[in-house]
Amino acid sequence: MSKKIASARINTESSELLKELNNSLPFDRELYREDIRGSRAHARMLMKQGIISPEDFQLIDEGLQKVLEEIESGVFGLDGDDEDIHMAVERRLTELVGDAGKRLHTARSRNDQVAVDFRMYVLRHNLSIAELLKDLIASFLQVAKEHSDTLLPGMTHLQHAQPTNFGYHMMAYASMFKRDYERFVDSAERNNLSPLGCAALAGTPHPVDRRQTAEELGFREPTLNCLDTVSDRDFALEILFNIATLMMHISRLSEELILWSTSEFGFVKLSDKHATGSSIMPQKKNPDIPELLRGKTGRAYGNLMSLLTVMKGLPLAYNKDTQEDKEGVFDSVRTAELSLRVLREMIDEMTVNVEAMEAACMKGHLTATDLADWLVKEKGLPFRDAYHIVGNVVNRAEELGKDLSELSAEELAQVDERIGEAEGLLDNRLSMNARRSEGGTATERTLEQIEKMEKWLSSVSS
Ligand code: ARG
Repeated sequence: MSKKIASARINTESSELLKELNNSLPFDRELYREDIRGSRAHARMLMKQGIISPEDFQLIDEGLQKVLEEIESGVFGLDGDDEDIHMAVERRLTELVGDAGKRLHTARSRNDQVAVDFRMYVLRHNLSIAELLKDLIASFLQVAKEHSDTLLPGMTHLQHAQPTNFGYHMMAYASMFKRDYERFVDSAERNNLSPLGCAALAGTPHPVDRRQTAEELGFREPTLNCLDTVSDRDFALEILFNIATLMMHISRLSEELILWSTSEFGFVKLSDKHATGSSIMPQKKNPDIPELLRGKTGRAYGNLMSLLTVMKGLPLAYNKDTQEDKEGVFDSVRTAELSLRVLREMIDEMTVNVEAMEAACMKGHLTATDLADWLVKEKGLPFRDAYHIVGNVVNRAEELGKDLSELSAEELAQVDERIGEAEGLLDNRLSMNARRSEGGTATERTLEQIEKMEKWLSSVSS
């Protein structure tokens, strides 16, 4: 029986059940690129520091490139009995290059190895998600530009509240996704520190140069304290939180798309590409895609809660519990990237029903606040008195089966003689355009928001 590569003291073959519980290769194989990259940087540093010979480095470096090729071409399937990706790569390397391969693990532990691999994976995906967010924001800007004059009933409590425009609504989402973008970039920046060279927990007596490997791997500098570094998973928690928040935003938008595409609203029509049929009701087109995006938010929250819970009781430094950090992150990253791609396609290809949005503005007396504001500004009434008068006007409009904006001067004056002249001022578009305080819905303010966001987008895209 061959001795286990990572054990000097255990002589019996592991039980099958232990392997099933313990082996992480079935999922951490996802890290093979990072593992090989980290090992090549480590080997080069060992050579430069005189810890291994140039000949051994040459063999290791070429051997690792060969292992990478074998993995990518499927020759080395990463489906064997190895404990994890680190052991799998080292085993194959040693098969290929012999004794030199056994020198690679000098001045290194799997504790700093997994920390560097996982950090590189997380940093890479912070940035790929940020790129997808920029594309999505560009799509919102496009729709917002086309619809900065398209009236939309603005709601609170899902009840008609005040007239807004659809472009303004799109800019609200663009603003959320901009903050998401900033969170991913910020997290990548903060965590851009190299764990390599920390070894098991306390550093190493070998004369390693952590700055060299940090630089080769694209990190800003090495981490400060090795004990912290091998047990820290904040960087993973941050991406999980950022994805959970991103999915929450995607989910809120999905909810609106689902509502808007019902026959009750009819504000948008999703492309047939993004709708599915019912197996029994032949007339149906279901918004499965936004429903799935909304549903997938659950797993993103779960993955965050799960890792927070794994970490909460761990004494310093490395504990095997930490191996549970990966699957949730891989899942959240896959979910976020796919969701962003699908969402962008859906936004680009949806049809906006301008007539339905504008017609909906004729329900719900959206300009009631405007009438109260007018009484305050033009007639000097205290706001609370104006508020009560407008309440009576709305009751009258309901009796007449009309919207407030449709009442004639006479009908208004019947309720209160001071408001006859307000006729014509209660138009929805006029009302929307009157809200021109900074950040408000007026078309000119919406266009200003679009312009600022475009400037920002081009500043982060250059
Ligand atoms: N597969 C392990 C993980 O993902 C690698 C680190 C193992 N280190 C150890 N000392 N057992 O966490």
